[in-house]
Amino acid sequence: MVKDKLLFNGNEKQVFSTDDPVQVIFRYKDVTTAYHGVKRARFNGKGALTSQISALLLGYLNENGVDTHFIRTLSDEREQLCRMIEIIPLEVVFHNRICGSLATKLGVEDGMKPENTILDLCYNNDELGDPLINRDQAVALKLATYPELDMMYDIVRRSGQLLTDLLHQAGIELVDAKFEFGRAADTGAIIISDELSPDTCRMWDEETGERLDKDRFRLDLGDLVPSYSIVLEKLRNVMETEE
Ligand code: C5P
Repeated sequence: MVKDKLLFNGNEKQVFSTDDPVQVIFRYKDVTTAYHGVKRARFNGKGALTSQISALLLGYLNENGVDTHFIRTLSDEREQLCRMIEIIPLEVVFHNRICGSLATKLGVEDGMKPENTILDLCYNNDELGDPLINRDQAVALKLATYPELDMMYDIVRRSGQLLTDLLHQAGIELVDAKFEFGRAADTGAIIISDELSPDTCRMWDEETGERLDKDRFRLDLGDLVPSYSIVLEKLRNVMETEE
């Protein structure tokens, strides 16, 4: 596998083409951003941790019937081989609890636990601040078709449940999770693209209630690296005993 040109240089990740036209290399950076890039810092070792956690979670979904862009990890622990996709500029956020911007929007206590799960559809557009959007608006902008949106919702419900159960076995509560999608370059199928890690999901220690995710940075609760290391260790413990 030969790493070729830099295709995309994001705040927290880079994407490179390879000698295979339908495969790319994702490289996770040590940089962390929040509030649409307004807050920014570097944490040594964060990229390796988010890459490895993401590889475990995306690999777990692949093995359990939900297709994602993840193929395999590479020798550099910040890198992984992924399927090339055509980006769908939509995000679906799965909420087990009402936290963060949703708590502010609904005027409820941060962390309120409803009896149902909540799915939010957002337009992935930095200039507009990733606003909430509804299905009709998404179709009107030709971002996706109604059947594709149905598929995305189905994927999120199944993945949200799989990840909630897996993390629970590891002693971690999945509070919410953000999913992004693309159309696979090889088959055209809708698959999960982008990472799943404490950078994109809220994760709380079930015993202590401690936040183990990017909220540590957003809310100035301290270094990310020790918390992300705990997430990786707990996941490895439970996934290694499963094999
Ligand atoms: O910021 P907000 O409270 O809306 O975040 C909801 C979920 O989506 C959180 O898990 C957060 O980490 C994730 N998120 C993200 N990227 C963004 C905004 C939110 O991964 N740009």
